[in-house]
Amino acid sequence: MKGSFRLLTEGAPPAAAGGGVMQVVIGADHGGYELKKKIVDYLSSQGHGIIDVGTHTSEAVDYPDYARAVANAIIDLRAERGILICGSGVGACVAADKFPGIRAAVCHDAFSAHQGVEDDDMNVLCLGARVVGPELAKELVRVFLVAVFSAQERHVRRLNKVKEIERELAAG
Ligand code: RB5
Repeated sequence: MKGSFRLLTEGAPPAAAGGGVMQVVIGADHGGYELKKKIVDYLSSQGHGIIDVGTHTSEAVDYPDYARAVANAIIDLRAERGILICGSGVGACVAADKFPGIRAAVCHDAFSAHQGVEDDDMNVLCLGARVVGPELAKELVRVFLVAVFSAQERHVRRLNKVKEIERELAAG
């Protein structure tokens, strides 16, 4: 290992360390538009700050554009965590994980939705609106947002290796 470097949550506002009210960025393509509206309502009911980057209609759009907007909000520290929704969750996830510092995963079970944060410092939850219903989606969002990265040595070591891969690829 060439050296360690900062995990994204280290510079983020305090809620990232406590599972409390957070600043959350959310985006969806047309496949996720209806579910996004329900999740925005849920986030609002829980007191979270919300950056909604769209889409704002059911007209067909391209999921990478929304993955980019969600990723940039986290990278710029305007949001602590992100939620991305498309039809399956997959396209949005693939696109989001191209951004250094973004750790996105499709989680359609509660265990993965919180353990992905606790062990892997996942910062973007991807959902498939054609796979999960709104009540399960809300529960997945809930456990994702209350989860906290454990910062255990073995997980930090592994994350630093992930970051090293990003750095190597960025350097060419
Ligand atoms: C759009 O039809 C669909 O491909 C998109 O929402 C998503 O499922 C991609 O993974």
